[in-house]
Amino acid sequence: MKGILLAGGAGTRLYPLTLVTSKQLLPVYNKPMIYYPLSKLMLARIRDVLIISTPVDTPRIRELFGDGEALGMHISYAVQEKPEGLAQAFTIGRDFIGDDSCAMILGDNIFYGNGLYHKLALASENAASGSATVFGYYVEDPHRFGVMELEKGIGGNEKQVRVLSVEEKPANPKSNYAVVGLYFYPPGVSAMADQVHPSARGELEITSLNELYLRENRLNAQLLGRGFTWIDAGTFDSLRLASDFVYMIEQNQGMSISAPEEIAYRFGWITKDMLARSAERYGKSPYGEHLLAVLEDRIVL
Ligand code: G1P
Repeated sequence: MKGILLAGGAGTRLYPLTLVTSKQLLPVYNKPMIYYPLSKLMLARIRDVLIISTPVDTPRIRELFGDGEALGMHISYAVQEKPEGLAQAFTIGRDFIGDDSCAMILGDNIFYGNGLYHKLALASENAASGSATVFGYYVEDPHRFGVMELEKGIGGNEKQVRVLSVEEKPANPKSNYAVVGLYFYPPGVSAMADQVHPSARGELEITSLNELYLRENRLNAQLLGRGFTWIDAGTFDSLRLASDFVYMIEQNQGMSISAPEEIAYRFGWITKDMLARSAERYGKSPYGEHLLAVLEDRIVL
């Protein structure tokens, strides 16, 4: 399975912060925002990742992760010339995806919660057997997001739920469940994305792509229950919320979360020596200290 991390967009809602830098490189507490979604693709055991960003931001992101070797991964890069919609990622990534299934995560989405790993594994299984998977999260202001309407009487306990409709930023949302920025698709997603027409706002919407799968009865949903945290960190308030959240978790347990090098090491993708070299790169920062603690087995989980 392949993975796309979409880190595009002009980030106009965060001006002037994003006038001369990429939204996805802004800090969420003590790490660049992009560390968090990359970690989630890694938790799905995806080692082959395409990062798509703007013409100016792509080189900066490449400086950060290079070809992914330090993470035991293969990371490549592509440019989205204009913010023409999330579904465009699958046509830009056509050659990269080839005949594989593919997950996509948005570069400003922060996920945290126990058991996410199992949900990701189930989504991968769905993709291998021909269905797409989206994830729903209860929010107070669904009109700001893609919204999924669920089969009546569905609680949060089912492993997977049936979706009746998906709508992009509806004025009258049919539920409180936002479709979060993490999607799993079976082989053939690029051809499917070719069939998406631009919306009224001129974008190739991910929601339109999901609708195509829904029409073919190939769309699954999993709910991220109240034990999960999901934040779209694309506004000042949500960016601050994300930082506060990470701060609280890290202070409380005294360790870093969403550290790609740690995940790579625990999954056996990199050796001890490679982790040591990465730790050095981060110097005396708490993040570097955390990698050293992992290296020296001081965090026994
Ligand atoms: C995008 C998608 C929307 C989704 C959201 C999640 O919205 O279009 O369906 O719910 O990401 O973060 P945007 O952030 O582009 O407004």
